[in-house]
Formats: sequence, C-alpha cells, structure tokens
Amino acid sequence: MTSKERVTVVEVGPRDGLQNEKGFVPTEAKVAFVEALAEAGLPVVETTAFVSPRAIPQLADSAEVFARVAKRPGTRYPVLVPNERGMARALAAGAREVALFTAATDTFNLRNTNATVEESFARFAPVVALARKEGVRVRGYVSTVFGCPYEGKVDPAKAVSVALRLFEAGCEEVSLGDTIGVAVPSQVTEVVGRLLSSGADAARLALHMHDTRGTALANVVEGLRAGIRVLDSSAGGLGGCPYAPGAAGNLSTEDLLYLLHGMGYETGVDLAKVAEATRVLAESIGRTPVSRVFTALRAASERR
Ligand code: HMG
Ligand code: MG
Repeated sequence: MTSKERVTVVEVGPRDGLQNEKGFVPTEAKVAFVEALAEAGLPVVETTAFVSPRAIPQLADSAEVFARVAKRPGTRYPVLVPNERGMARALAAGAREVALFTAATDTFNLRNTNATVEESFARFAPVVALARKEGVRVRGYVSTVFGCPYEGKVDPAKAVSVALRLFEAGCEEVSLGDTIGVAVPSQVTEVVGRLLSSGADAARLALHMHDTRGTALANVVEGLRAGIRVLDSSAGGLGGCPYAPGAAGNLSTEDLLYLLHGMGYETGVDLAKVAEATRVLAESIGRTPVSRVFTALRAASERR
C-alpha cells in the first residue's frame, strides 16, 4: 500500500441513517447534522432522499432540508432519487448529484420500490436522460449484493450483472450495498474481482457496508486491497434500511476513519469533528451511537 493515498468517504448518515429512525427527526436537526458533517471535511454528504413520503415519512421534509443546508464550496451533496418524479423534485430543490438504487434480488427491490430489478431500469432511463441534460452526476446503488433478507444467498454473477448494467445505464459510480450486513471478505474479493475482470474501473466502484454482524471493516480492508477508494459510511453508525429487517447500522464513519487514517490513507476528514456531529445529533434524538470508535473517544474524553 502506498502511504497517503486518498480515499473518498461518502457520508450517508443523513439519508441512510435518518430514514431508519422511528421518530421524525426535526428538520432543524437534520440541517445542522449535514452542515456539521461537511464542516468536518467529509467530501460527499448524501443529504436526503426524494422518495415517496408515504414510503419514508422520516424524510418527507427533503426539499426543505436540501434548501436550508448552507452548502460548502467543494463539498458534494447527492440525494437519493427512485424515479422521474423524485428527479424532478430533486432538481427543483437544486440538487446537482443524484443516486439511483436497485438491487441484486427482485423480492427486496419489490418491497423497497414496488418494482422488479428489470422494471427499475425502465424507471431510470428518463432520470438519467434528465441528469445528462442538466449536467447532474449520477451514482447507482446495488442493494443485496452479498445477501438478501428474503432470498438469502445471492449469486455473485447476478449482483455483478446489475452493477454493470448501472454503468451502462449512465451511472458514473456504482456502490455495492451489503444491505443487511452479511458479507465476509471472501465475498468482496469475489464480487469486486468479477467486476474488475469484466472491465469495471476500480475508481468508479464504492463499497456500502452495513455492520450488522461486525464484518464491515474486514470487508473494507478487502475492498482497499482490491483497489477500491470510495467507501460509504454513516456517522455514529446510524442507520439500516426499513425494508431490510435486521439491517441495523451502517458501517460507522468514525470506525472507518480510524481504520483508514491508521493505515496511512488520507481522507481530509477530521475524526473528532465527525464524532462531535454524531454526539449533537444523537443527543437531539435520544440515541446512543453504536460506533465503537465514537464510544472509545467519548470514554477517553470523560477520563480526562
Ligand atoms: P409506488 O407506490 O409504486 O409509486 O412507489 P407510484 O409511482 O405508483 O406512486 C404512488 C404515489 O407516490 C403517488 O402519489 C405518487 O405521486 C407518489 P398519489 O398520487 O398516490 O398521491 N410518488 C412520489 N412522491 C414523492 N416523491 C417521489 C414519488 N414517487 C411516487 N419520488 C416508489 C414507488 C419508488 C416511489 C416508492 O416505493 C418509494 O419511494 N420507495 C423508496 C424506498 C426507500 O427510500 N428505501 C430506502 C432507500 S434504499 C436503501 O436504503 C439501500 C441503500 O442504502 C443501499 C444498501 O444499503 O443496500 C441505498
Ligand atoms: Mg444502506
């Protein structure tokens, strides 16, 4: 490994984290959370989702959140978009980057978006066309890459073909989602290896790990070994997916940063500031963050 190599950390807490909260997080707290994360140096902060408010009432205030966030020059603020309607709302709110999402398995995708994987690509076509017209960057997510809460084990070939299709559909980057946190490193090697040998560019792949079973960081290390330099995480380890029972907790940004910085990677992110953003948000929603590094930092500061 070359020291001081750059890794881009994509913060998904305000979207993937808050979509999973039981209660509605006040708009003010969401805005402050996004701003604090950007202020901590996170280069990409996935801000919210323009999905159906009936499906995800927690993010029903997406337009207001997006409009109220004071944007830092140089920080990217992508938003999740499921269809043309969502894209129109995102553009009206001023979004310059969007993320589409589908899955490796039909059952999950149907529960999550009321569409099969095939149908989801039909929905994406007009979204990508609009994005091209407006010069908006498009990321694609594949959920259930390593395992599905409904279908169980997932054939790596299936996950790889969905990821390649997202590139073909016009996504500049594809994020591989371990939606329910079941993956182990050998699966990362297999899926990423197959993608690279199919011609995918490692620089345009991201890993999106949930830490349900404590394997997220091991998977990240395997991804780094395979050449991946874009990693998704959520401040404090907030999150999950409402349509993925048991998908408690995204890989926490604090845990990821501790690992990356310790291994000599450069991220441009201030870990202490991320932990402070987590502390403020967690306090305002009455949650104890699950992040190990957050917990260790708190314990150390209390001993002082
Ligand atoms: P549907 O019911 O099939 O949609 O939902 P529809 O087109 O039939 O429309 C139904 C109603 O919703 C209509 O309203 C539409 O206008 C409205 P009505 O006429 O009945 O009043 N509608 C919308 N409203 C606002 N914004 C929109 C929108 N679209 C339709 N964009 C739909 C289909 C996809 C919209 C719905 O199922 C949905 O929003 N699902 C989102 C679910 C979601 O956000 N899941 C979590 C994010 S994915 C995730 O967490 C995984 C990830 O982190 C990676 C990983 O970990 O694997 C990314
Ligand atoms: Mg997720």
